[in-house]
Amino acid sequence: MRATRAVVHLDRFAENFRAVRNRVGPGRRICVAVKADAYGHGAPAIARASLESGAFCLGVATVEEGAALRLGGIAAPVLLLSQPVPDEIPGIIQNGLSPFVSDHEFAGALNAAAAAAKTKLPVHLKIDTGMGRLGCTPDEAPALARRLAGCGWLEHAGTATHLAVSDSADPADLAYTERQLGLFRDALQGMRAAGLDPGIVHAANSGAIILHPNAWFDMVRPGILLYGYKAVEAPPPEPPLLVEPAMELRTRVVFVKNVKKGESVSYGRTWVAPRDTAIAVLPVGYADGLPRLASNRWRVSIGGGTYPLVGTICMDQCMADLGPDPKPGRWDDAAVLGGPALGADALAECVGTIPYEIVCNIGKRVPRVYRGA
Ligand SMILES: Cc1ncc(COP(=O)(O)O)c(C=O)c1O
Repeated sequence: MRATRAVVHLDRFAENFRAVRNRVGPGRRICVAVKADAYGHGAPAIARASLESGAFCLGVATVEEGAALRLGGIAAPVLLLSQPVPDEIPGIIQNGLSPFVSDHEFAGALNAAAAAAKTKLPVHLKIDTGMGRLGCTPDEAPALARRLAGCGWLEHAGTATHLAVSDSADPADLAYTERQLGLFRDALQGMRAAGLDPGIVHAANSGAIILHPNAWFDMVRPGILLYGYKAVEAPPPEPPLLVEPAMELRTRVVFVKNVKKGESVSYGRTWVAPRDTAIAVLPVGYADGLPRLASNRWRVSIGGGTYPLVGTICMDQCMADLGPDPKPGRWDDAAVLGGPALGADALAECVGTIPYEIVCNIGKRVPRVYRGA
């Protein structure tokens, strides 16, 4: 196997799931976001681990992602969180996915296809309360619910909204979330007043699980929290919800070279040795998900020590400065990502993005190795 691999600790994922379960209570359903190959962790293994931990359903972004889960033997409900195009409707029906429905046109198209296939299809009505993305307006929700009730081949299984700033404890953002939740509650009230059952009601992503208990309703939809990163900008209220990164990006030192003071390392000569030193070459680069922007800014852990990455990160390789009297040697194991000091959140901060993007971008050619199953 290649030296560079993503080690996914399923026991840590299960622990994170338990932490979320303890937070939201035993009676609430949990929908695990396994879209984008489970945020880079590998959807088949994470889907299985989720269901073994007690998840009610899984959330995907594309019909292909849902079909792959079905092919892998997953029978649990699968929510399709993004809007597909009409050509994808047959795939939704064949795989028994539960799409979000934001409008009458899509409801009608789904109902016609489900009727043709003589298959009852569960759908979740999506309301846009302020995310500015998918969903009907709160005012339109009762009429859309009535439309679903009139679609003989659709089952109105749930009603959802999505929060734009649930991960922020800034007072203005807290107020915005409360406003979103108020609009959502009003829309649900309008449905119920018209005798329409909204089904499973859900709104909370990771940020809301930490900061907004009144967003938990019947089901929560965590993603990043289960993968071990806290989607909050401010300290959470007590008691803290403790999670641990489930994935590490590891590699090995494949070459050690001596570089003299004044010699440069890598493309563009962005780093020039300030003293005689030893340089480790690591076979991991931006094609594996180590952002090029982290050049001369990130570090790796080898043995007990931490060493700065120096020079421009290449597509397939990068270099670390081991110092003039190096303890690590050729073939030693190295951590590029993972653990408290080398978390995806720290790397994200270093390159101006969010941990979601870091873990999603761990490349396809990086084998996933599962531990703690
Ligand atoms: C509709 C929906 N629900 C839940 C999630 C999970 O979000 P998070 O990873 O912040 O918990 C996402 C992710 O973007 C989403 O799009």
